[in-house]
Amino acid sequence: MFVIKKLFSGSEILKEALSKRIAIGAFNFTNMEIVQAIVSAANELKTPVILQASSSAIKYMGFGYLKAIITAAAEEFDMPLVLHLDHGKDFEICKRCIDEGFSSVMIDASSLSFDENINTTKEVVNYAKKFGVSVEAELGTLAGVEDEVNVSENNAFYTNPDEALEFIEKTGIDSLAIAIGTSHGPNKGKLGVPKLSIETLRKIKEKVGDFPLVLHGASSVYSDSVKICNDYGADLKNAFGISDKDIKASIQNGIVKINVDTDIRIAFLGAIRRSLSEQSSNIDMRKYLSEGREAAKDIVLRRMKIFCNS
Ligand code: G3H
Ligand code: 13P
Ligand code: ZN
Repeated sequence: MFVIKKLFSGSEILKEALSKRIAIGAFNFTNMEIVQAIVSAANELKTPVILQASSSAIKYMGFGYLKAIITAAAEEFDMPLVLHLDHGKDFEICKRCIDEGFSSVMIDASSLSFDENINTTKEVVNYAKKFGVSVEAELGTLAGVEDEVNVSENNAFYTNPDEALEFIEKTGIDSLAIAIGTSHGPNKGKLGVPKLSIETLRKIKEKVGDFPLVLHGASSVYSDSVKICNDYGADLKNAFGISDKDIKASIQNGIVKINVDTDIRIAFLGAIRRSLSEQSSNIDMRKYLSEGREAAKDIVLRRMKIFCNS
């Protein structure tokens, strides 16, 4: 097994977050600039951080470059750093990431039946435990809460609180991603900012007690960030995210890991579009990439401050 020095397992820092009633930001990365932005923000706020890569991000970077970037990041970071696989779809990708030195993995078998999800998750847990790697799994369906869809229809997508407890007990996972009305990407609510079902979260929390719960699809898609993209030629329509108020309420009710990708994409894109437009004779990629990196750092800082209640 490849070992990246100074990495922490997810469960260590999530347990601590639970006791402090704060959440740890889990930010997706695809290149060096985004890793630098995330680590620099976390260093500034002195907070632990989870750096996560999806299978397609891993494919884009390749394990070799990914590990080299993370090794460099871990060297210059003074706080706990977790390297996490985001949305691993089967045992094979989870095993590969564990073997390559990831300290945490997500097995996302949420599209399978409840029993198949349990069996697949258990297989990953059994392997991960041998190496002290933590495992996140998912129960429920991430879908936007659209105004024209009524509450009983939404309930079909939300995580069932009774199933959550049974799932945790039967699989031995370290954290559970739940569905309470978020969705991935920049179009979370068709007609405006979607409302999370904090009531469902409370019911889950009542059943599972002090167990680390994870919120995916949690980008805020701030209108000022979207405006910069659109002012400089993008065409992002119906871009809505989760309100800061709902994020804070979710942390108060047991969410300890919050996944953010879209916010970084929008910030990076806006800054690069603006730079390219305002400096039309520039050919030096370091100029626009550093402006993108700075904007990505700013958005990560903005989100971390909400997660840490500071
Ligand atoms: O959860 C999804 C993340 O935003 C990753 O997306 O598969 O395009 O890297 P991706
Ligand atoms: P966003 O698309 O809201 O940033 O969610 C990212 C995510 O959940 C990654 O797993
Ligand atoms: Zn996700």
